Amino acid sequence: MDVSSVSGDLVEVLYTEDQIQGRLKELAEQIRADYEGEDLLLVGVLRGAVMVMADLARHLDRHVEIDWMAVSSYGSGTKSSGVVRILKDLDTDLSGRHVLVVDEIIDTGLTISWLVANLSSRGPASVEIATLLRKPEAQTMPVEARYVGWDIPNEFVVGYGLDYDERYRNLRDIATLAPHIYS
Ligand code: PRP
Repeated sequence: MDVSSVSGDLVEVLYTEDQIQGRLKELAEQIRADYEGEDLLLVGVLRGAVMVMADLARHLDRHVEIDWMAVSSYGSGTKSSGVVRILKDLDTDLSGRHVLVVDEIIDTGLTISWLVANLSSRGPASVEIATLLRKPEAQTMPVEARYVGWDIPNEFVVGYGLDYDERYRNLRDIATLAPHIYS
């Protein structure tokens, strides 16, 4: 979907489709260099990371395996509860594997820090994080992401996998959502 289809719902485009692809290509090149000679398993966090995974993996000029986890963040409570539940686990044994967790955004950091701890307990050779976006002002859990597309302000962003009420995930660009939509 193009922004023109929902322009009344958006404040501004933060990153266009072209800018996103350009940045992912740069990250893929860093990842290729860093994991030279090693096997690599990409773990995507459903559902928001689908677009990032699809494009990042295709920019990677090397073999990779791809697996997915689905987690329910925060149960039925609020983000601050920090409760994470596995809805779909990996199909892959992590013993001795180099794991790169791929997500589209680190907001508070609760989801990814829980995931890294969980995956690290399964005997992998390494666990690192790649995220397209990060909100430093919103982060309450200290997590070290090795690959970050952009740091963004603490605003409501949608598109390229990011939803509001399950909508806007299929927007090509990343944009800030107009307050009248969510307030
Ligand atoms: C989003 C996003 C991250 C997480 C970031 O997932 O995909 O995984 O929230 O937030 P945090 O840093 O505050 O934990 P969400 O739970 O909305 O599910 P989704 O991927 O299905 O949209």
